[in-house]
Amino acid sequence: MMMSTENCSQVRAPSIGMRALHVDDLPQMLALQASVYPPALLESAQVLASKIGAVPAGWTSLAATDGNTLCAYALGYPWRSELQPCWNRPLALQHDCDVLYLHDVAVSPAYAGRGLANELVSQLMRQGQQLGLSRAILIAVEGAQGYWSRLGFVAIPTGSTDPAFGGDAVLMQRELAPPGSMLLDTA
Ligand SMILES: CC(C)(COP(=O)(O)OP(=O)(O)OC[C@H]1O[C@@H](n2cnc3c(N)ncnc32)[C@H](O)[C@@H]1OP(=O)(O)O)[C@@H](O)C(=O)NCCC(=O)NCCS
Repeated sequence: MMMSTENCSQVRAPSIGMRALHVDDLPQMLALQASVYPPALLESAQVLASKIGAVPAGWTSLAATDGNTLCAYALGYPWRSELQPCWNRPLALQHDCDVLYLHDVAVSPAYAGRGLANELVSQLMRQGQQLGLSRAILIAVEGAQGYWSRLGFVAIPTGSTDPAFGGDAVLMQRELAPPGSMLLDTA
């Protein structure tokens, strides 16, 4: 079954807000990252900062917050599909991008299961649509392929990934519909 964006916005508690992710969020991002990933998959503050900042004007990654608490974040940026995404290397601003790369979505265990990841991803995908990107790609790690399948992502059979993402990493993709059309509500 695929999940619906509209359903998820209904389950988000009123106290939880969505906003652009800032470098000021880095201390909480690092703590959140460490709470959901094994040490081998942790990226440095410098790399995370580059992935927040090396993006076209107007583009933002996203944070879900509950007061001053960072509940979840979604790091994604325009990317060139012929390039292989790298783990823990600083991002340089890319030109002539054709895809949205969803690099990292992480939800604090205390806020899991409320649709936050779905909502953050939906907003990133809307930005991608508005920029005219044709599809979204991601690398599912830590057995998250099933989660992404429910959002309509499918494995790219020929896709190879940087070994640093782990032996079970799976390159996945889904189309981005033209602006104005339905996006994740594909149930
Ligand atoms: C995967 C993750 C982002 C989902 O965040 P979330 O806000 O809890 O997700 P949602 O509320 O939108 O969806 C929750 C549903 O996804 C399911 N789900 C969560 N993780 C899953 C996984 N790894 N595989 C399959 N399903 C998963 C939950 O069981 C739940 O199912 P339900 O609706 O039937 O109860 C979050 O669990 C997380 O941060 N995990 C650790 C980091 C990670 O693996 N990120 C993705 C790396 S590619």
